[in-house]
Amino acid sequence: MLSKTPPMGFNTWNTFGENINDEMIRQTADKMVELGLKDAGYEYLVIDDCWSKKERDPVTDKIVPDPVKFPQGMKAVSDYVHSKGLKFGMYSCAGVRTCADYPGSFDHEFLDAKTFAEYGADFLKYDNCNKPENCNGPLLYKKMSMALKACGREILFSACNWGCDEVNTWIRSIGAHMYRSTGDICDNFNSVRDLFISQLDNYAYSAPGCFNDIDMLIAGMYAEGNVGAGGCSDTEYKTHFALWCMASSPLMIGCDIRKINDTTLALLKNKNLIRINQDEEGRPPFVVSRHRDGKCICLVKVLSDNEFAVMLANLSDDDSRMNLYLEDIGLPVASGKGLALTDAFTGEGRGVAKERISLQVAAHDCELFLAKIADV
Ligand code: GLA
Repeated sequence: MLSKTPPMGFNTWNTFGENINDEMIRQTADKMVELGLKDAGYEYLVIDDCWSKKERDPVTDKIVPDPVKFPQGMKAVSDYVHSKGLKFGMYSCAGVRTCADYPGSFDHEFLDAKTFAEYGADFLKYDNCNKPENCNGPLLYKKMSMALKACGREILFSACNWGCDEVNTWIRSIGAHMYRSTGDICDNFNSVRDLFISQLDNYAYSAPGCFNDIDMLIAGMYAEGNVGAGGCSDTEYKTHFALWCMASSPLMIGCDIRKINDTTLALLKNKNLIRINQDEEGRPPFVVSRHRDGKCICLVKVLSDNEFAVMLANLSDDDSRMNLYLEDIGLPVASGKGLALTDAFTGEGRGVAKERISLQVAAHDCELFLAKIADV
């Protein structure tokens, strides 16, 4: 089964945009292994838009890899990625052209799926630009889903329709394994906050087999790259990653892994956070309470083995006292029960909470705990 838990990996778009090539892909693959990211669960290395020539081959009608960026073709790149024990991801688009104006797969779905299978692809991100007017969007995603299932290779289908056509309600049914539910992320905290909050009512559509993708990670980008727009502080990247983990969103690294710093690496490899994201039950978080225009959010995610993840996220621009009352999660004082807390970031014990968890949380910061029910 593909996508048993939220897919994890790396995607070229956020940092590299059109500046992709054989060498940087191989270097990234090397680093994913060397730095322990593969062992932490990041297994897909996905090449996004801008990998092909501007036109299809006039004779075969196939999309052709750009010979300057990928002089040895895509199979060679894919073989290298596989030799590192990683999986290889490709990109195309449901429209006639991709978002960056390269050939799209409209009306070529079966040929292209076969071509990706020949490359040895394990993953396809399928974008939503340049569809013919009045076409049936969901049908185009059905078509590529069928083409992938018919191509003779197991390929994870990452549908990227940005939340159009009420995607949450049908995308699982057509066989996709993850789906973008939002517009593109930018490297700043407003974008993180808006994307996460926009899907609060839709995380319940995520479950093993198909996950709501609130876009690729920006952690560690520091305003460098293709979606740069101010950048974030390390605290903000920490909150960003914790939110994506609570949301069971796919975790696709977007920074330049070849230049990643220790802080970002430790964050992305944090075992407790990954455990929260990858929990086998794949449950959505529920909102316990919200204040300050809904930007201070207390969330609980029920995990397997009677564990819980508890998050106090201050997405507002001011420091705030945050209170999570245990009776609001079904643990009234009369039950004689509280929550034994472990700081998910540091692994330190934080005692047993009775009645409430009350903490001062700085603007854009968060507290994240692994919790177990305990007698009080
Ligand atoms: C769209 C997608 C992005 C990226 C670009 C590539 O904007 O949403 O994630 O793939 O296209 O052009």
